[in-house]
Amino acid sequence: MWNISTEKNLCGFRGWASDFIMGAIGVSMLCLGIESTAHTVGVGIVDEKCRVLANESSTFSPIKGGIHPREAANHHAENIVPLIRSAFLKAGTDPRDLDAVAFSMGPGLGPCLRTGATAARALALAVDKPLVGVNHCVAHLEIGLVKTGCRNPVLLYVSGGNTQVIAFAEGRYRVFGETLDIGVGNLLDKFARGVGLGFPGGPLVERLAGESSNLVALPYSVKGMDVAFSGMLTAALELHKDGKSLQDLCNSIQETAFAMLTEVSERAMAHLDRDEILLGGGVACNRRLKSMVEMMAADRGARIFVPEAALCVDNGAMIAWTGLLMHRSGSHLDIRDSVINQRFRTDQVDVTWIRAGAQ
Ligand code: ATP
Ligand code: FE2
Repeated sequence: MWNISTEKNLCGFRGWASDFIMGAIGVSMLCLGIESTAHTVGVGIVDEKCRVLANESSTFSPIKGGIHPREAANHHAENIVPLIRSAFLKAGTDPRDLDAVAFSMGPGLGPCLRTGATAARALALAVDKPLVGVNHCVAHLEIGLVKTGCRNPVLLYVSGGNTQVIAFAEGRYRVFGETLDIGVGNLLDKFARGVGLGFPGGPLVERLAGESSNLVALPYSVKGMDVAFSGMLTAALELHKDGKSLQDLCNSIQETAFAMLTEVSERAMAHLDRDEILLGGGVACNRRLKSMVEMMAADRGARIFVPEAALCVDNGAMIAWTGLLMHRSGSHLDIRDSVINQRFRTDQVDVTWIRAGAQ
């Protein structure tokens, strides 16, 4: 049976163990990471202190309608080589200086993931360096841990495609709650697109929400630690057709959706007896979400941690950093096992790097 004190010890060990390993080795390590799960293709290079030497990216924005996986993959294929070149230039390093090459193995859109994986395999083979397959959701968490200094948080991971409440328990990162339908970012993007605001919807909804303090009743759907947003989307689009003010609707979507997320995060923190909450994913850039979670945390005597925006959104540096942790603990992939996994679950990841530190 997992117990909280054992786990606190393991997590406390993490920083000490990594310093010890690096001290013993006495060399600087470099890892390049490729992110390509959805709209964004990114290339990051980090060292063993998680100094971000480069974090280059390009985002596919469809002219009309939603994201088409094949079109996004074509965008990524066109941009990946220039991004890799520019990352090496920014970092002032050479491909031969790398210790490992990491890529987002999933979850995400198949064609996009395959494009990133192909580039990573080619680079790893060309310079004869180990290949590391990273879980995208775990990468959001690891970059948040190292950059904010929190130790054993509940992570509220809120992006376009994902909405999950994650924490480390019983040797794995586990999902305690998640969306039962669409991600919260998807709710904001679909609403914004449906009412003609454009893409990405999150910042546009945030701006209009700031112009209203009126609340319109919208479906509030929480089931245990899970949430659902598609009912709210349908209701908000209907209300817009009926002539409700766009500002009022934006404000109400934010208040309702973020209250749901705050509620399930608090439930997870209470259940796990945690006093830290870490935000990650593009929606974590939202000021209202941050202030609601901050209020909840303050009420519980807990602390909130939010990485800088460039590391909250999808980015190559978080893949490089998680890849470096995995590489250090010997978690490599044979090319023939480097197939992407569109449904790669957070709790499928063998967290070798914490175990290695704990031994
Ligand atoms: P994932 O594969 O993790 O689902 P993604 O393609 O959604 O990734 P992210 O960069 O993590 O990528 O997040 C993008 C989302 O964040 C979009 O839905 C966007 O509308 C939302 N977003 C960005 N800024 C804000 C903001 N200020 N407020 C609310 N949402 C935001
Ligand atoms: Fe993401």
